[in-house]
Formats: sequence, C-alpha cells, structure tokens
Amino acid sequence: MNTDLDKLKKISREIIDPETELKDLIPQAAALRDLLESRTHFRVDPARDIAAGETRLDSGLAISPALAAMCLRELFRTPAFIRGLHQAISDALRPGRPVRVLYAGCGPYALLALPLMAVFSQEQVKFTLLEINPESLGKALALIASFGFTPYLDEALCADATRYTIPANKQADVIVSETMAVCLHNEPQVAIARHLLGQAPEARMVPQSVSVEMCILDDTKEHVLMPAGHVGAIPEPQRDRMHLGKIFELDAANIRSWKGIEGDRLPAGRVKIPSPLEKRHRPYLLTQIVVYGNNRLQDYDCSLTVPQRLPGKPTFAGSETLQFHYKLGCYPKLAYEAMA
Ligand SMILES: C[S@@+](CC[C@H](N)C(=O)[O-])C[C@H]1O[C@@H](n2cnc3c(N)ncnc32)[C@H](O)[C@@H]1O
Repeated sequence: MNTDLDKLKKISREIIDPETELKDLIPQAAALRDLLESRTHFRVDPARDIAAGETRLDSGLAISPALAAMCLRELFRTPAFIRGLHQAISDALRPGRPVRVLYAGCGPYALLALPLMAVFSQEQVKFTLLEINPESLGKALALIASFGFTPYLDEALCADATRYTIPANKQADVIVSETMAVCLHNEPQVAIARHLLGQAPEARMVPQSVSVEMCILDDTKEHVLMPAGHVGAIPEPQRDRMHLGKIFELDAANIRSWKGIEGDRLPAGRVKIPSPLEKRHRPYLLTQIVVYGNNRLQDYDCSLTVPQRLPGKPTFAGSETLQFHYKLGCYPKLAYEAMA
C-alpha cells in the first residue's frame, strides 16, 4: 500500500542519496512539495494578506506562515538543506543517546526535520523545535503527529530563538536555522546563529557558512537568452565579472570572534572599486551558502543566492574604498560607508 508515509520515506531517501546531484533532485523536491501541500491543504488565500502574521522582532523579520510555507517551493534550497542536515546529524551520531537537533524557525512544515524523521530512528535523533509564530508551530506539530513522528520531539516551543536558553543538560549537537533572506538582509539569521552557537560552541551549524562577496559585473552577460523554439543544449553564459572580495561571513569561527561585541555593529570587510570603472560594470553582492559539507547553494540556485545590486544602486567614479559592517537590529543588513 502506498501511504503518504511510504511516499515521504521514499522521497526522503532519494533526497539524501549522495550519489544523486542536487540538480537532479527537482522531481523529488516537487513530490515533497505536492505531498505536504496536499496533506495540509495549503493554498494561497487571495482574501488574506500573504504577509499576515509576520512579526518584526528586535532581531529582524519573522515571516508569515503563508510565506514560510512557500519556502517548500524552493526546489534547490529545500533538498540542499535536508541533505546538509542529514549529513550533520550523521556526523554527530554517537552511541548511548540520540543526536540533539535544535531547529530554530521550523515554519508550518518543520520542513528540514520532517523528512529526516522518516529516515533516522528515534534512538538516533531527537529534535527541539522553536518557532515564534503560533500558527506555524501548531501546523508543524499537527503535521508531525499525522505521520506518527511526535516521539521524535524533545520539545516544541513557541519562542523567540534569540531569547532561548539551551538547557545545560540538553546541549545541542546540531543547530539548524533557515531564517534568512538574500545577503543576510532583513531576517534574523545572524542574531539567531550568534545567540544559539554562543551557548553550544561545539554544535554543528546548518548552514555551516553564509558569505557575501562584492563583485562588479555586466548584468547583460549573466544569462544566455535563447530564441523561442530553441531545441538542444543551452550554452553556458560567458559572464563578465570582477570579484572584489568577501565582505562578510556567518560561520562558527566568526561567531566566536564576535563574542565580546555588544553594540549593533559586526565587523565586515573593505573593498576598493577599480579605476577606471567600466560603464557596463555595476556593483553587486553575491551570497554563497555552504549548507553543510559539500552541500552548497551557489548563484541563482534559489532566492537566497540571487546576485543583488548594491543597496541604493550607487554609481561610483572608481577608486573609492567601501568599508562594510553588519548592522544588527529590527532591520538587519550589510551597510557600508564610501571613502574617496
Ligand atoms: C524562512 S522560514 C523557514 C521555514 C522552514 N524552516 C523552512 O526551511 O522551510 C523562517 C521561519 O522562522 C521563523 N522565525 C524567524 N525568526 C524567528 C525567531 N527569532 N525565533 C523563532 N522563530 C523564528 C519564522 O516565523 C518562519 O516560520
């Protein structure tokens, strides 16, 4: 009998198969989307503001249940995170007790955990779920219960992850959170990772690293446009980019190095705009995500890694130095000062 549980197990096993490349997992990601959306009767309600229920925290925006649900539709992001979390849990497996996973911002499907409940045993892994939005948490718990997975939960709290204290006798082995937007803009990923990893410095973090690099590029060369009706291979774009350097990285080493910082500014890099600056070249920020191990999200793989014009779309004459910092707070973002 092909039950939803059997389907979930099959999809999950295929997603974590290391022999399959991420780009070949679109059918499985789509099948997971269809399964969870049909099981929860998810639909975008045109009568309801899609942002209804979002919360502006003092660490950034916690997105609405509808928008959090739609993360499931990111057909590269979702399998990359499930694979990365699977690898982190596998690396943390130990005899004697289950791996403790702290999942901050589980959204309405507990999407990164649910497929792994279908492949690991309860002796291998237990999850603590944190979610600020009561509607999202309620939906996630109902979905988990509907698959019979409630025993995988250590705890599930409607709480702000940036205020959560990890119990001393329940140190997390793995911390997972996808509470970010492109360029680590607006959402609380940095504050959450900093707060939780600060309490569990030995934990494996998923994503392992989120970095933002500055580059100047000709945006007309980013993609190859093929004529309608084209059949056959699509040539690789010949991109015209000049990489100016990494300006920020959220990873365990940097979180450790920020330990004594109390204000709302984290240090970031400095870049020099080349001179002469060709007219076709515009300043862009590129986000790269190492989910865990060799599971990566690169340019254009998902909404989190689409290259972005430098905020404000400034024009530079050439030779300016840009000093960046990461601004924490309700509207977190990478900001810079230009020095002539
Ligand atoms: C981008 S969605 C991701 C949902 C799901 N984890 C996924 O990967 O599809 C982020 C979720 O984190 C929650 N969230 C954001 N900030 C939070 C915080 N400080 N504490 C707890 N939950 C938070 C939001 O309410 C939202 O449900």
